[in-house]
Amino acid sequence: MQELQQILDDALRSFAATDDAAELENAKARYLGKEGSLTGLLKGLGKLSAEERPAAGARINQVKQQIEAALQARREVIQQQALNAKLAGEALDVTLPGRGTGAGGLHPVTRTLERIETLFHSIGYAVAEGPEIENDFYNFTALNIPEDHPARAMHDTFYIDGQHVLRTHTSPIQIRYMQAHVEQHRHLETMPDIRIIAPGRVYRVDSDATHSPMFHQVEGLWVGERVSFADLKGVIADFLQNYFETEDMQVRFRPSFFPFTEPSAEMDMSWKGGWLEIGGCGMVHPNVLKHVGIDSEKYIGFAFGMGVERLAMLRYGVNDLRLFFESDVQFLKQFN
Ligand code: PHE
Repeated sequence: MQELQQILDDALRSFAATDDAAELENAKARYLGKEGSLTGLLKGLGKLSAEERPAAGARINQVKQQIEAALQARREVIQQQALNAKLAGEALDVTLPGRGTGAGGLHPVTRTLERIETLFHSIGYAVAEGPEIENDFYNFTALNIPEDHPARAMHDTFYIDGQHVLRTHTSPIQIRYMQAHVEQHRHLETMPDIRIIAPGRVYRVDSDATHSPMFHQVEGLWVGERVSFADLKGVIADFLQNYFETEDMQVRFRPSFFPFTEPSAEMDMSWKGGWLEIGGCGMVHPNVLKHVGIDSEKYIGFAFGMGVERLAMLRYGVNDLRLFFESDVQFLKQFN
């Protein structure tokens, strides 16, 4: 049976020729499937005489078994190859360098605060802090802010309850610090100077490209026996020149109003041929000193408040305040 040998050779060759499981099953169908060549021969047995049939049937079956055995062996080889490839793909190369987790870095606003603190520290200012949830007395009353002042309105201030607010400025820290200072030096004839900056978060009902409901201020306060408006101007000008690392910096004071300072001024700095407001300031109002038990006939002082984000935006060239609070790592990475 020439034909049978031909089928066997073909089958073995085509099984050996493929590495693919699906292709192998297709090849199987060509010999053993319903329309397969070997199946065709088996069907043809019926046409043979009764004498020829058993021998022919036996030979065909023998070839069928050989083909099935070859098929099964090839299946196993292909399966093993697939498994090896999968394992190789998943292999962990322990000699590769690690990806690293990234060390993280300081937020640009934190960097700015640290810079401000360092500069003021170098001219003798201590850093004071206070609570972000303030009571009405420290945030408003002690600062000589009258009952009907707009800053007290619901639409400008986040009230926690009737007595407590998210502080709207860092000025209440002045009050807390002065009270403690007075208490601490009660036994002395003359109280030592108060010279602090008070950085921190403040909250207002405000949100656009240059206003955020939460932002940072840095308050400054110097109280002593001989503190003048000239000192205030000198300290601010000196700070801005150092902060922006340029002598070529003009500072302008525009008359203004704050309940807790008298006289009061807005501070502007020269910027790209114009003026840019960076905060408010003034001489501490006698009523404020009275509220904390400081003799306003003997002591005098100045206070100022600046926006920290504004200083950060100018130094780093950021034009939208909201970028600072979106926690976008791509943005924040640039500062580290
Ligand atoms: N507290 C004022 C504000 O938030 C700023 C300021 C501070 C003005 C100190 C004068 C003196 O707008």
